[in-house]
Amino acid sequence: MSEQPQLLYQNRYVEGIAGIDKWIEHGGYDAFRKALTMTPEAIIDEIKVSGLRGRGGAGFPTHIKWSAVPKNFDQPHYLVINADEGEPGTAKDRDLMNGIPHLLVEGCLATMVAIRASKCYIYIRGEYVQPWQSVQRAINEAYAKGFCGKNVLGSGLDLDIYTHLGAGSYECGEESALMSSLMGERGMPRLKAPSAPLPMISGVWQKPTVVNNVETVSTVVPILNRGGAEYTKIGYGSPRSRGTKLFSISGHVNKPGVYEIVLGTPFSEVLEIAGGVRTGHTLKTYIPGGSSMGFAPPTPLDYPFDYEGIPASTQTLGLGSGGLIVMDETTSIVPIVKRLVDFYHHESCGKCTPCREGLNWLSKIYQRIEDGAGREQDIDLIWDICDNIQGKSFCALGEGAIWPVMTSLRLFREEYLSYIRTGKDLAMA
Ligand SMILES: Cc1cc2nc3c(=O)[nH]c(=O)nc-3n(C[C@H](O)[C@H](O)[C@H](O)COP(=O)(O)O)c2cc1C
Ligand code: SF4
Repeated sequence: MSEQPQLLYQNRYVEGIAGIDKWIEHGGYDAFRKALTMTPEAIIDEIKVSGLRGRGGAGFPTHIKWSAVPKNFDQPHYLVINADEGEPGTAKDRDLMNGIPHLLVEGCLATMVAIRASKCYIYIRGEYVQPWQSVQRAINEAYAKGFCGKNVLGSGLDLDIYTHLGAGSYECGEESALMSSLMGERGMPRLKAPSAPLPMISGVWQKPTVVNNVETVSTVVPILNRGGAEYTKIGYGSPRSRGTKLFSISGHVNKPGVYEIVLGTPFSEVLEIAGGVRTGHTLKTYIPGGSSMGFAPPTPLDYPFDYEGIPASTQTLGLGSGGLIVMDETTSIVPIVKRLVDFYHHESCGKCTPCREGLNWLSKIYQRIEDGAGREQDIDLIWDICDNIQGKSFCALGEGAIWPVMTSLRLFREEYLSYIRTGKDLAMA
């Protein structure tokens, strides 16, 4: 088995690590102290060298976002942390916020120095009451120790962090909808560049804003502690996928949980880290990175699990948010896809017609199939509706909604037909 150095989770299971004294005892806030001695440009350079890519799903290089923020202090800059974590199968940010909230707070503070922000908002999904309490407690402790507030540690910088609870909308995890929601507007996505300015130029309250995922800014801490060049030495796969990533591994494995895994670790080893497929069962399919990524076939298994390594032949969209969902041969595909379609239909914000109407129709057709009144032509109809959503919806929710549908149809067409003909899934027959 490949070595799995723990950079984020190094102290995750130390008793009392959620408290600031224990955190400091284990080297906590050293990265932030270091950031205070550096120029914003030097911090961004270190992140550039590290090759850090956004852990929220898209894998966008973090330094590019940060570099686009204006280099002056003549207007407020904002850091907004995406802790909405609505993607089915994903629970890594929850675990991080519950267990090691100071890692997030420290990462936010270092990032604020880099992008010249004096205010940070952590937007937490409404259902995450416990993580919210944990993070708020950590922020209060950071104020009490002088890491937050006015003139932190005599640096001349004022750094404030606030938490904001969302109202449980998946769409509010989309960064422009999140910014609207934070400002008290309806949580709908905004026009994107080039039709509108980038958030780094005009984000919340029309001011320069960086939106980053919880894990992304948390990863800034080990990068600053060890240096960007050292960080790039970690990774078993592509030179563009460096470091470690948190994976929420759920479903039919012996030890489901959140694991920090080196990018590029062979996928078969990733399964082993989670205890392997349920004893006595075989792998039928899996979703590599949250339900929007779609279903993958059970082979091949020996490929580097990172942003570039997932073979195109799986037809999945990739690593996404790191929500790996494993399904063995007892899984009935049609009811699972129906459940996902219902979820996306419910979460569609209704702004654009292909997603609003298309998901409504998909939901009705899957209901018909489940009720035993499906027709074989429904398969073509489902495909046609997906085709009308693909590439035609306003934000990526539409695309994410149809990907599990299309990949399941490609892989399990026979199961669909059997379900339609007999009212039962092959796996249940
Ligand atoms: C429908 C939808 C939901 C999303 N939900 C989340 C989420 O819960 N958390 C997250 O970090 N990113 C989410 N994203 C991605 C964000 O728009 C954005 O790319 C991310 O916050 C950027 O942070 P990063 O660069 O640090 O990854 C979502 C995107 C879409 C289209
Ligand atoms: S694809 Fe359109 S309707 Fe669906 S969530 Fe995005 S903007 Fe809203």
